[in-house]
Amino acid sequence: MKESSNASTEPIGQNLIKLISNLCFSVFVFSVLVFTVVAITYQPPDPWLESAPALTRLFTQTENATFKDDKSMFNTGEDWQSSPFAPSVPPVSSITEEVIEKAEEKIEKSEEKIENSTVTERSDCDELRVVNCSDPRVLIAVERFNLKLFKSIVFLEYQTPVNGSKPNECDVAWRFRNKKEKSWRKYRDFRRFRFGYAENCTYKIVRGSGWHSGVNAKRLFRSRVNATRTVANAKVAPGIHDDEINDTLPSLGSEMNFRKGKYLYYSRGGDYCKGMNQYMWSFLCGLGEAMYLNRTFVMDLSVCLASTYNPSNKDEEGKDFRYYFDFEHLKEVASIVDEGEFLRDWKKWDRAHKRKVPIKKVVTHKMTPMQLRKDKSTIILRQFDAPEPENYWYRVCEGQAAKYVQRPWHALWKSKRLMNIVSEIGGQMDWDFDSVHVVRGEKAQNKELWPHLDSDTSPDALVTKLQGMIQPRRNLYVATNEPFYNYFDKLRSQYKVHLLDDYKELWSNTSEWYNETTLLNNGRPVEFDGYMRVAVDTEVFYRAKTRVETFYNLTTDCKDGINTC
Ligand SMILES: *[C@@H]1O[C@H](CO)[C@@H](O)[C@H](O)[C@H]1NC(C)=O
Ligand SMILES: *[C@@H]1O[C@H](CO)[C@@H](O)[C@H](O)[C@H]1NC(C)=O
Ligand SMILES: *[C@@H]1O[C@H](CO)[C@@H](O)[C@H](O)[C@H]1NC(C)=O
Ligand SMILES: *[C@@H]1O[C@H](CO)[C@@H](O)[C@H](O)[C@H]1NC(C)=O
Ligand SMILES: *[C@@H]1O[C@H](CO)[C@@H](O)[C@H](O)[C@H]1NC(C)=O
Ligand SMILES: *[C@@H]1O[C@H](CO)[C@@H](O)[C@H](O)[C@H]1NC(C)=O
Ligand SMILES: *[C@@H]1O[C@H](CO)[C@@H](O)[C@H](O)[C@H]1NC(C)=O
Ligand SMILES: *[C@@H]1O[C@H](CO)[C@@H](O)[C@H](O)[C@H]1NC(C)=O
Ligand SMILES: *[C@@H]1O[C@H](CO)[C@@H](O)[C@H](O)[C@H]1NC(C)=O
Ligand SMILES: *[C@@H]1O[C@H](CO)[C@@H](O)[C@H](O)[C@H]1NC(C)=O
Ligand SMILES: *[C@@H]1O[C@H](CO)[C@@H](O)[C@H](O)[C@H]1NC(C)=O
Repeated sequence: MKESSNASTEPIGQNLIKLISNLCFSVFVFSVLVFTVVAITYQPPDPWLESAPALTRLFTQTENATFKDDKSMFNTGEDWQSSPFAPSVPPVSSITEEVIEKAEEKIEKSEEKIENSTVTERSDCDELRVVNCSDPRVLIAVERFNLKLFKSIVFLEYQTPVNGSKPNECDVAWRFRNKKEKSWRKYRDFRRFRFGYAENCTYKIVRGSGWHSGVNAKRLFRSRVNATRTVANAKVAPGIHDDEINDTLPSLGSEMNFRKGKYLYYSRGGDYCKGMNQYMWSFLCGLGEAMYLNRTFVMDLSVCLASTYNPSNKDEEGKDFRYYFDFEHLKEVASIVDEGEFLRDWKKWDRAHKRKVPIKKVVTHKMTPMQLRKDKSTIILRQFDAPEPENYWYRVCEGQAAKYVQRPWHALWKSKRLMNIVSEIGGQMDWDFDSVHVVRGEKAQNKELWPHLDSDTSPDALVTKLQGMIQPRRNLYVATNEPFYNYFDKLRSQYKVHLLDDYKELWSNTSEWYNETTLLNNGRPVEFDGYMRVAVDTEVFYRAKTRVETFYNLTTDCKDGINTC
């Protein structure tokens, strides 16, 4: 699809017309594609200031809640800052200017000592002519360099540099956090540096190469964990994944432990195969109730992804929760057990003992969490067999219950595997990019509710409007649900345009993501679906220096249709 990126010699307009007519011929193909890429229509002027209460409002506006604008966004707990539910970042020791100065002092002292004992003259910089990568001064030069260049990054730990491919090169690896991410997850980078020396006998960096260029330092991450993780029957070699992800299913241990626990078990309800916003809204209601009752929540990790996110345009069952969400984090902050494990242990217990496990069945959401507080049964089983919409999980948290049960938004983060892709895209642009979010799709076609959206997001309008907001020649990441790759070609004369599909190799069958999700899926490849696309697009957009929103900056139409703003 990238053929027209070299179109600067051809008249772009003609090229576009040609391509648009191609589009007409393959309407069928694209109408399928339309569903693979879905709208991302989170619209806060500054998304980082969007609060959980605001989202709550957004959800509750839909009242007894058929979720009107379903596929609109993918915000999770890590995206909210100024709310009581936002995760607090624990103090981490980042590599700051002071830390570097301390290290330098230490080196100077030890050098003095050496000088005092050996009385050597160091009048010239001979010893720096051959770069010794394990010399602490090499690392210090790199730390200073990074600190100056990457203002949006917090540097956490550096590994000792190793040799690069040439004598004056070293490869350096480190872990970092993006200041714009509210979780405290760490990401990896390793880069290659070429050194020279300054007159005053210090190393100086002549050239720093790009994201993940220091391949010799990469293995330093690998050697840390050696365990073949206990993912069932996976046929993928160990040691090829992000060793910081540990989302194995938590185990109850012995059946004695099972009996000692207290559980809240929701049977499958009407939420199944609905949109992902409803999924989160419902799941967090159940988890919130379990927390309120001090019980372990029995969790079905098998998710049904609604048709709008699937290239097949069908609901797809059997998606793993861990494709989308950070299960490791969830395990840490909430008491949960996998449904399969739970049912196995329950059966085992019942078979081995005469006395059955005490169980309380609750058949209606009208039985409130407060009424269940005193219940001592080992298992509280909520059944959701009533006709829609009485069978939605989140009904449990409506009315009075809302005062007692809080949705634990802080427990829900995006999958680290997806975030690794986000990091990679940002890293490849050295985090120096601006972004525009272009909403098209169904909304652009609906002239009744959004009369100007289509024309305001046309290629010509985009060129004109962005000129006032983004400097020419900048990296411009376009987050969009427009399926036609070449739609944004007109912007290429002004900007270095980046689209999600430019980074296809990050989820291709040679990627780390592919290896890791295949491992989760018992050796079967996993499709990079529309929801994952929205997740990645959303997060890359958030990391941009200048962000341009469709409904605040490009058009005067309202996000939710005419006369809603
Ligand atoms: C919500 O449900 C109540 C009763 O269950 C009903 O009276 C009301 O009309 C419903 N509201 C909407 C917007 O459907
Ligand atoms: C090195 O010697 C100088 C004087 O010759 C002295 O002032 C300094 O304290 C000594 N440094 C160390 C680390 O011993
Ligand atoms: C490189 O520096 C390290 C640490 O200062 C030192 O132990 C090592 O001997 C040096 N190697 C060479 C070849 O100079
Ligand atoms: C790194 O390079 C230096 C000189 O270029 C060499 O002396 C040293 O042995 C190399 N170290 C390793 C571990 O290869
Ligand atoms: C060494 O010189 C460079 C410029 O050549 C300067 O930036 C640096 O601060 C100097 N370092 C010291 C320790 O004087
Ligand atoms: C890796 O695993 C092997 C065998 O399971 C063990 O012998 C070895 O000590 C482990 N290495 C590390 C670094 O944990
Ligand atoms: C992964 O986490 C589980 C607890 O959920 C723990 O028992 C296990 O040892 C961890 N595995 C590794 C390799 O850290
Ligand atoms: C849950 O535990 C907390 C603290 O241990 C206690 O204050 C609260 O009353 C308990 N709630 C229930 C429903 O038992
Ligand atoms: C990856 O996909 C390409 C084309 O889609 C195919 O030719 C290749 O064999 C695949 N490689 C693996 C390792 O599955
Ligand atoms: C993915 O797994 C294959 C086979 O196990 C391995 O050869 C490849 O290097 C891995 N790719 C990445 C990016 O880890
Ligand atoms: C987009 O619109 C918002 C709200 O009007 C404004 O605060 C922001 O500065 C605009 N962004 C740009 C890049 O102009």
